[in-house]
Amino acid sequence: MKALSAFSREELLAFEQATAKQYEEFLAQKLSIDMSRGKPCTQQLNLSDSILDNVNTETGFKSANGTECRNYGIPAGIDECRQLFADILEVKPENIIVGGNSSLNLMFDYVAQCMLKGPTGEKGWAFEDEVIFLCPAPGYDRHFSICEYLGIKMVNVPMLATGPDMDVVEELVKNPKVKGLFCVPKYSNPMGITFSDETVERFAKLKPAAKDFRVIWDNAYCIHDLYEESDKLLNILTEAAKYGNEDTFVVFTSTSKITYPGSGVSAIAASTNNIKAIMARLTMQTIGHDKINQLRHARAFKDMKALNEHMQRHAEILRPKFEAVLDILSKELGELNIASWNKPRGGYFISLDVEVGSAKYVGKLCKDAGLVLTTVGATFPYGVDPEDKNIRIAPTFPPVDELKICCSLLCCCVKLAAARELLGKTE
Ligand SMILES: Cc1ncc(COP(=O)(O)O)c(C=O)c1O
Repeated sequence: MKALSAFSREELLAFEQATAKQYEEFLAQKLSIDMSRGKPCTQQLNLSDSILDNVNTETGFKSANGTECRNYGIPAGIDECRQLFADILEVKPENIIVGGNSSLNLMFDYVAQCMLKGPTGEKGWAFEDEVIFLCPAPGYDRHFSICEYLGIKMVNVPMLATGPDMDVVEELVKNPKVKGLFCVPKYSNPMGITFSDETVERFAKLKPAAKDFRVIWDNAYCIHDLYEESDKLLNILTEAAKYGNEDTFVVFTSTSKITYPGSGVSAIAASTNNIKAIMARLTMQTIGHDKINQLRHARAFKDMKALNEHMQRHAEILRPKFEAVLDILSKELGELNIASWNKPRGGYFISLDVEVGSAKYVGKLCKDAGLVLTTVGATFPYGVDPEDKNIRIAPTFPPVDELKICCSLLCCCVKLAAARELLGKTE
């Protein structure tokens, strides 16, 4: 096989016809598969079921220091759960606030707080003419939705193999209207990129014109490795403290993809000043989050050894799925030179770039054949991929056999779209 662009017109016509026939065969199968979101599969959820039994009348409802977890109080979280997240995020427990089941909820509330009152309670961003966030893209669609909902203007920043293009970030933060940035520093959604040491150091040294600039450091996949040899991410709070910039970064994570997305525990790690400002708001919002669930998680994972062993069991389930997708992509598309993709060492996604201008068409072909992908464009602010080329593959949920069908269909659609584009046949 050679690059599709090197095919003669006759070869291309024959290729298009053969691929169209293959596509017809997929249509005849009347598939109905949803691969749109990065959800753990049932087998992964089953790994955590023992947490449901470790807090009961026999084991007791008290935390290690005697706190009654069934009652009101302790809004920053019980000690052992703060310690658990302190270990995960490599900070001190006093720099942790434990939330409810969703880190997205914590991020929304944090940005909303900044809009209303500012990060330190001085002046809300919403009272300025314009608020701009930098959005490394492709990125996580729900970060972009938060900005859109709150009326924050988004400016795209290209993602490089090392993380966001820091030349662009350093230039754009000279504008005082630029108040923040959303990013996923490890196994990013959807590219699977871990920020290089240089990228983290350049973040740590940032001197934005807006003194109340904040980076939402969404470390959702901090311990979600697929392989024993994991990507290493420098600790942003430690690095930033070297330059007196620790207040610029607020770190978020959760156990959504450790235990249950519907019933896990989330957390914030931040500087002493930020913790104080967040607690001033949080204590108006709640008298305390679900401490029973905090206790379940702290009892289940007594130390990092127990947690790492648990994450290895997730990896054993996920590795074959990622490898099946990568294998099919390479066999089906490898030599045609019509697509490129990442080979992540962790996280929940594979990011596929198809020919410029054809991702939406590929998404439509897949949908017509019964495969729902993440809405094409959703990985960019305002749902607009300027080059219409990025497709997010979420391999975690479907069983391997179904995943193989999904991926073969996807490759068939990528080939059909590329051939039709070259033949001038796309609508
Ligand atoms: C980067 C990223 N952050 C946050 C979330 C949501 O996290 P949570 O379940 O803690 O709200 C996801 C879910 O896919 C994600 O990919």
